[in-house]
Order: sequence, then structure tokens, then C-alpha cells
Amino acid sequence: MIRKGIILAGGLGSRMSPLTKAINKQLLPLYDKPLIFYPLSILMLAGIKDILIIVSKGQLGQFRKILPEKNNLGIKITYKEQPKPAGLPQAFTIGEKFIGKDNVSLILGDNFFYGQSLTNTLKKNLKFKTGAKIFLHPVKNPHDYGVANINTKKKVIRLKEKPKITQSNLAVTGLYFFDNKVIEFSKKLKPSKRGEFEIIDLLNIYRKKNKLKAEFIGRGGAWLDTGNIDDFYNASNFIAAIENRQGLKIACIEEISFRNKWITKKEINQAIKFYGNCDYSKYLKLLIK
Ligand code: DAU
Repeated sequence: MIRKGIILAGGLGSRMSPLTKAINKQLLPLYDKPLIFYPLSILMLAGIKDILIIVSKGQLGQFRKILPEKNNLGIKITYKEQPKPAGLPQAFTIGEKFIGKDNVSLILGDNFFYGQSLTNTLKKNLKFKTGAKIFLHPVKNPHDYGVANINTKKKVIRLKEKPKITQSNLAVTGLYFFDNKVIEFSKKLKPSKRGEFEIIDLLNIYRKKNKLKAEFIGRGGAWLDTGNIDDFYNASNFIAAIENRQGLKIACIEEISFRNKWITKKEINQAIKFYGNCDYSKYLKLLIK
């Protein structure tokens, strides 16, 4: 069972500079909320309430302002700093104490997922016991991501980080489930040629032991990139289109908690006070009317 989740929200955000010179990328607005609300909402939709957020050194104060440890969400938030962005597997060494003896999920702080099948897929996979699980999604530009090749039985037979040439269009998305061995395996990794610990190397350890499983986020689901400015605005437009059509918000974290019965009207009213007079608060007011 997966009950704990890590959001890796560090990094320099250098591809988005100068926007990210003073503000962490995960706090920039993706349409009407900070980017980090979206990956956080995915963990919450999966039913995960115990969450570690790893941020770059010196950024803790900013994150705490919007997602304080003492929050109105009915979830437990813990923070840790990453001294330098030395690679995604550092989440498991920095998070060793938080993980304890449990299994854990990791989501990258800049990943956006959407789709009806997604919550079902996540819930189905929560009963996860051993090994590692990745979530694959078809993309037009696989060379920008970790890429998985699968055989006819949908088994992952090859995993490579940003391959120049590949026959596969299946990107490894930034959502991963791991058993507790992930701490031990992360400690054994050696830095790659670009000087980082690589998530793909970690996943390959599981693959070679026949312990890696893949789940597919098909065409009905969306996995959008927020890697550069254009991707960021495209994702914002996508969210705006859906929210304005439906009158429902994507990644309203209080709404998810309320529907999960983790909080009551009392906490929603506290959240309204916290955010002040804004559209987001108006939405929360409607929720409890
Ligand atoms: O988005 C999915 C992709 O994420 C996967 O397909 C790749 O296999 C995986 O390596 C990763 O690729 P990226 O090139 O997108 O990784 P990036 O270095 O941009 O980091 C992703 C996020 O994680 C970003 O918001 C910053 C944060 N990060 C990154 C590193 C390296 C940290 O918080 N700490 C780090 O040390």
C-alpha cells in the first residue's frame, strides 16, 4: 500500500529564467493557481495524506506561505531542502527518514496530469506492494524525456534518458511508485555523464531484477509539460479552457480534501479567510453553499 508521497519541487528552473530568478518555478501561476497545486492534487486524489515537499535551498519560506505545515487540507506536510539539484533519486536519500519502512510515491513538482481515468488508475495502483511502477504516456517528442520500450506483452524491455533516436513514443512521466528498497538502491547510484543521479538508472535497477511494472495513461488522459515558457502557457490555456467550460476547478486542493471527507465546512471557511477576497475563495464558498 502507498500512503506516503514526495513532491520534488527543487531545481533551478533555469530554462524559465528570468521568471525563476526570484521565484521558484513551482510557485509560478499555472493559470489560476501555483504550479505545485497540480502535482499535490494528484497525490491527494490518489488518497495520499502524508506528504514531503523537497525544495531548493533557501526557498522554504516562500513555500510555507502558500502551503504551511499547519494547513486547512487535513493532510500532513513536511518540508526538506535539497542543497543542490543533483538529480531526482536524491528525493529518496533526502527523504529517508520520512519514508521510514514504508513504500513511497514520487511526483515531480512541475508535472501536470489530467483525465477521468487517472484517479481510477491511481487508486487501482495504490495497493502496490513490491518493486517499482512507472506511468507511461505517448508523446510526439520522446527524445525530451525518459523513454520506455515495451514488448508485445507490455513489459518494459528498455529505458533510456532522452535518447537521440528511439522507436518508442512512450515517455516516462514524472510519477513513480517505489517499494522501500528505493532508499538502498538510490544510495548505490553513481552520477551520470552530466553529473546527476538519474531516475532512469534507478528504474533500470528494478527492471534488471524483473521488478519494474508499467501503467499506461492513454489518449484519454493528459500529461502536459511545463518545461519551457511555451509549454507553460499551453498548459495554462488547457486549464483555462476546461475550467471556464465546466465551471469546475482543476486541482482545487481544498475541494479534493472536502470530497475525500478529510475536512469539513469549518476548514473551507478557514481557507477562504486565508486566501482572501478572490475568485478561488468564491469557488470555495460555492462548494459549501
Ligand atoms: O517530466 C518527466 C521527466 O522528468 C522524465 O521523463 C525524465 O526521465 C526525468 O529525468 C525528468 O526529466 P527532466 O529533464 O524534466 O528533469 P528536470 O531536470 O527538468 O527535473 C524535473 C523537475 O524536478 C523540475 O521541476 C526540477 C525538479 N528537480 C530536478 C532535479 C534534477 C529537483 O527538484 N531536484 C533535482 O535535483
